Amino acid sequence: MAVKASDIPDLPTLQTIGNRRSYRYYDPNRTVEDYKIDIMLNAARIASCQGNINCTEAVVVTKDSDLWDEIEECVSGFNVQIINQSSHLIFWFTNLNAWYGRAIDGLSTLALSGALTRYHGWNYEFSMTQTIPRLMSFPVERTDDLLRFETGQHVSQAMLAGQAMGVGSILIAFGRKPGGIQKAFGLPSHYSFTWGHAVGYPLEDMAAGGQRVRLKFEALFNNEEMGKPRKMADGLEDALKEIGFFQEQAPTPGRFEEIDALAEQFGRDPGVISWPEKDIKRLMADDDWDFGPNIRARAQHVLDNEDLPEYPPEILETFRKIMTEHGIDTSKLLPDA
Ligand SMILES: Cc1cc2nc3c(=O)[nH]c(=O)nc-3n(C[C@H](O)[C@H](O)[C@H](O)COP(=O)(O)O)c2cc1C
Repeated sequence: MAVKASDIPDLPTLQTIGNRRSYRYYDPNRTVEDYKIDIMLNAARIASCQGNINCTEAVVVTKDSDLWDEIEECVSGFNVQIINQSSHLIFWFTNLNAWYGRAIDGLSTLALSGALTRYHGWNYEFSMTQTIPRLMSFPVERTDDLLRFETGQHVSQAMLAGQAMGVGSILIAFGRKPGGIQKAFGLPSHYSFTWGHAVGYPLEDMAAGGQRVRLKFEALFNNEEMGKPRKMADGLEDALKEIGFFQEQAPTPGRFEEIDALAEQFGRDPGVISWPEKDIKRLMADDDWDFGPNIRARAQHVLDNEDLPEYPPEILETFRKIMTEHGIDTSKLLPDA
């Protein structure tokens, strides 16, 4: 049956952004409808795109694929359960040859669309003799940087489109076998495998235990110059809570019971991991993080009740060395020796 507009669930954008989580438990018995996968792919397709060169491509795979075993061997260990419960995997690739091969046609399509105007200083002769040749002479490493950024935003748009329809997503690392995914799909070197993306109907609650804590707004964003924190508009935080953009922070009540019940259902070990006492205390005192009451209560519960590990002393030195090499002040980020 042909898809109708009324078949497409469509939450408002800001609420969708607020609802988004990385889902790690999917219902293995539910398959996401093909049209919803197609909507997600289309959301990537119509995302902003340098020079309209269309560098982002993807392969959609299900567990019926002949390549499944090879794919499973490439995925990082902590993602194996996720891919096996998901409905579809989307492998996102950045076609670096789009930069070298489609710059001329991409700009030409923009000209035909009315997007390259004399008002903005566009000039055919200059574009063909200066701009495009300069872009096309970029080394592959630079193109790779530029285009993977672009694929990232294409993927982000696909994930949000899924979320707006109640379809869950998570990006997953395939770091176990470098080059393994390109090899599985028989792709030439101009295809950079950018990220793996698992899709499905979440088995966990759609709130997935609450919004994950982030650094504070002021710790990330500045006005005029770095180090001059930007303040959020008056009343905005509460207004965003009201429309569901900011939601209750993780871990919400019942989350650990939910995780344990899911573990039992699939015969996996229950529980979550924890960091050492000193480190949890250090983190809770770090004013950059936007810790609300739920995560503070959880930290206190862990400190009061759990048998916490020790910080491995040798790795502490390694971390100190790496951070120092990068000019990072370790006094705030590492426990005392
Ligand atoms: C590029 C990228 C790669 C990620 N890779 C993994 C992964 O391999 N496994 C995983 O469980 N989560 C992965 N994540 C999800 C992050 O851990 C997640 O975004 C983070 O915990 C914040 O949670 P939220 O997305 O629910 O807000 C990845 C996220 C991004 C952006």
